[in-house]
Amino acid sequence: MNGASTEPVVDRVDGEHRYAITVDGRRAGFTAYRDQGDRRVFFHTEIDDAYAGRGLAAHLVERALTDVRDSGMRVVPVCPYVAKFLERHGEFADIADPVTPEILQWLETAIA
Ligand SMILES: CC(C)(COP(=O)(O)OP(=O)(O)OC[C@H]1O[C@@H](n2cnc3c(N)ncnc32)[C@H](O)[C@@H]1OP(=O)(O)O)[C@@H](O)C(=O)NCCC(=O)NCCS
Repeated sequence: MNGASTEPVVDRVDGEHRYAITVDGRRAGFTAYRDQGDRRVFFHTEIDDAYAGRGLAAHLVERALTDVRDSGMRVVPVCPYVAKFLERHGEFADIADPVTPEILQWLETAIA
């Protein structure tokens, strides 16, 4: 069909500590993390306004969490969007750890 979008692509960009989502070759958003040992701490998710409201954040976070699982790691959802996603997707509960004051303090330094 003319004008149809291709399937969005999600890549882990280690050098930028983020997973990026690309639509038709254009960066549409990202979810950013830092690693604390075997915990991947997600702290910010953003989808460009031009791509909002079509489920891209959900697709991005689903692929990111699947990659975390495949890497043998765990997830800490500081980002409110990722926290909400985890509440709705119990299939990731086994790899989710709670946000603690210690994690928040560590994150502040890690992203400074
Ligand atoms: C939040 C954001 C990433 C959603 O992107 P999107 O591709 O439009 O999201 P989806 O279409 O996959 O999902 C939309 C859902 O996100 C929810 N949402 C929007 N902003 C949210 C936020 N700050 N925290 C949690 N959930 C949020 C919406 O309520 C909607 O929920 P619904 O499924 O119950 O309708 C995007 O609006 C954005 O970049 N916002 C600015 C940055 C931001 O606030 N990031 C989140 C906190 S780090």
